[in-house]
Amino acid sequence: MSWTAKLVLLAAVQLAVGDAGSGERSQKPHILFIMVDEMDGRLLDDETPQFKPPMPHLRQLMKRGAYFPNAYSNSPLCVPARTSMMAGRYNSDIKVWDNFVGIANVNGDNRNLDQRCVDAFSRSECREFAAEQKINGTFIDVLADHGYEITLWGKVHAGAGLDRFSHKISNDPFTGTGPVRESAKAWSRLAGVVSKRQDPTLWMRRPIDVPMPAEGYYDYPTAEACAKLIKNGIFKKSTPQFLYCSFSVPHPPYQTNGTYWNAVGSLGKHAVPRLVPRDQLHPADAYAAKAKQFWQMDDCDAKDIEHFRRVYFSMCVESDRLVGNILSAFYNSGVKNAYVMFVSDHGEHNLENRQWQKSSMKEASARIPLIVAGPGMPKGKRINDLTSLNDVYPTLVDMAGAKSRVPQSKLAGESVLPLARGHGRKRNYVVSEYHDSYSRTGAFMIRHGHLKLILHAPLYHGGTPWPPQLFDVKEDPWELKDLASQKPGEVQRLENMLRKEFDVEAVDKYKKDYDRRMFLTYVYRRYSGPAGCHKTMDIAFPGFDEEDAKSIEQWIGKPCCKVAEGRKNKKAKYHSLQCPPKGIAKGK
Ligand SMILES: *[C@@H]1O[C@H](CO)[C@@H](O)[C@H](O)[C@H]1NC(C)=O
Ligand SMILES: *[C@@H]1O[C@H](CO)[C@@H](O)[C@H](O)[C@H]1NC(C)=O
Repeated sequence: MSWTAKLVLLAAVQLAVGDAGSGERSQKPHILFIMVDEMDGRLLDDETPQFKPPMPHLRQLMKRGAYFPNAYSNSPLCVPARTSMMAGRYNSDIKVWDNFVGIANVNGDNRNLDQRCVDAFSRSECREFAAEQKINGTFIDVLADHGYEITLWGKVHAGAGLDRFSHKISNDPFTGTGPVRESAKAWSRLAGVVSKRQDPTLWMRRPIDVPMPAEGYYDYPTAEACAKLIKNGIFKKSTPQFLYCSFSVPHPPYQTNGTYWNAVGSLGKHAVPRLVPRDQLHPADAYAAKAKQFWQMDDCDAKDIEHFRRVYFSMCVESDRLVGNILSAFYNSGVKNAYVMFVSDHGEHNLENRQWQKSSMKEASARIPLIVAGPGMPKGKRINDLTSLNDVYPTLVDMAGAKSRVPQSKLAGESVLPLARGHGRKRNYVVSEYHDSYSRTGAFMIRHGHLKLILHAPLYHGGTPWPPQLFDVKEDPWELKDLASQKPGEVQRLENMLRKEFDVEAVDKYKKDYDRRMFLTYVYRRYSGPAGCHKTMDIAFPGFDEEDAKSIEQWIGKPCCKVAEGRKNKKAKYHSLQCPPKGIAKGK
């Protein structure tokens, strides 16, 4: 045999071996998981009248896979949304409610605690959180156990010790009690106090000329690192790979630069959102608008409103470009046998409903984008079934052929892969719940067909309960017309379905007790006590007055005093202070 013939033979043998390798590989597909923060799902849904900023990369991904337009966040706020997604269970089941406490244990092992939790609180407190949460690991732990190599880049914000897989996680530690501004506000929500500073123009004129606009310090490095890993062949490895690339943008601070701003252009008929007149607002929506300091939005200049809204849409264009860097690397590398999944944790009001940010059950806040491409997924198919973030866990487990750690009875969602093959869902509705800042009482939502019911838990001090809200999101996409009083039969029907998923009053009571415990432990006892209470609450609610102090006192059953003029000393004796209402029990 000539040496050239030998070489050809050798190459053939190597090829055969290589093939066997890839045959092995095909049993466990690679997974590229891309996440953004705060992207309104309707921006990609052409059947909604929402403004459509140019997002060519995501639209191309929609053509390459299945697009689920009717996807929802199960608790529209960063940590609650992410933890329920990671754990595959409802927030009220895992007892993760707010942005202060994430998943406290690591890999389902309560002896091993998340270090960020320990740093923010204490070892013993985190052990208690873990015992309450009873979380048996995240989908990332399931994939790791199933032989996947895990690489995380960017924002995680869920706890669970996931830092151990991470090369660089953006600055998302759990800060525990500090900043007091946020935690005092969140945990005292049920008292109904809102800031006296109600001038939304303060927040309207956002910068459009920052050089590196994305908020997360790691957004650009994340895009770059993920693209580089793919170019360098991460998905050609024989070990199955799970690559997680997660951005902060379009999360606030609202800021952009000329490139993205010009890509959006002027908003035309979308410049100013349509609003329910203030005197007709549901009390939950009025409270949220006031708590977010946008109650006076009607008095703002239309140009300011358009400016603000355009900045947010520009940030969405920026996320599309960052995601596009990763997707280009992925589709140029000719990878087979790999899934791509794209989601956001929740949406953004962008001044709809007189609100910014999220934290409500309105479409702007609760709807998210969801796209899945890869083996067996139809290309360019719109799948109208209702889906939610809770479906992510079972879908990833399904893709990997792994075994769920969450027993079927507790699994909040279901795999979306059968939907792509034309099978319907077992549960043809989705639910969501919310228990944190800007929601004075627990909010529960169910969507079934085109109807959406929002049910409000009782107010803590009794009083007239807030009525449920009912919207037909197809006929009334901006949710301007509450149908609840017109269709009591539908309200009852949906409420019955919702109550099968949540024990509304029990869940709400549990969370309100938690709020009280956290407020007393981490705000009142630690920082303020009766003497510093007024001053501390003024940080949370600028303009905090004696009326507000009474609301807090009624709630905690302890004094919330104002230090007398000239007495700034925190340790000042209680009796030397002015304490507005009389007859309140002294001391703690
Ligand atoms: C906006 O930021 C991006 C990313 O840093 C940059 O590529 C672009 O040139 C910037 N545009 C302007 C006008 O500064
Ligand atoms: C947690 O998951 C592991 C691994 O799947 C399983 O062996 C164990 O039984 C699960 N524990 C609970 C309490 O669900």
